[in-house]
Amino acid sequence: MRIAVAADHGGFELKNQVVEWLRADGHDVLDLGAHTYDRLDDYPDYAFLVGEAVQRGDAERGIVLCGSGVGACIAANKLAGVRACLCHDTYTARQGVEHDDMNVLCLGARVVGVELARELVRAFVAARFQTEERFLRRRAKVLAREGAREGEG
Ligand code: RB5
Repeated sequence: MRIAVAADHGGFELKNQVVEWLRADGHDVLDLGAHTYDRLDDYPDYAFLVGEAVQRGDAERGIVLCGSGVGACIAANKLAGVRACLCHDTYTARQGVEHDDMNVLCLGARVVGVELARELVRAFVAARFQTEERFLRRRAKVLAREGAREGEG
């Protein structure tokens, strides 16, 4: 799977590990930065890079990290077609894809440990949207509200 990944300084180190894990698992990773640690960088810049990659179809999924994961999630969800969620349990990381077609996983690098982060990433990436009528109907309502069309993002 082609996956875009990015983080601000709060998620910088864990992001580099996420990129390594995904590549080791055979995924095609777009590492959109930060490429060097900068304590003054801003999470929206990285959340938008990932969200735009998903919007354009350059990546099927995205992962954004910041300190808490909250800022990254708020910013990513400003982009039409992006369905980002902060998931710190594996049930949500999986079910968010299966039921809600979540396409961007947000992680708080100051909140989760390395091993949990690895399991969260694996749960998110392994999950597939279940195209049952009720899930399609609910996603269509979300898309209608944001002005996106079915199939975008
Ligand atoms: C950066 O210090 C921190 O505020 C940011 O990474 C994130 O936690 C915001 O939600």
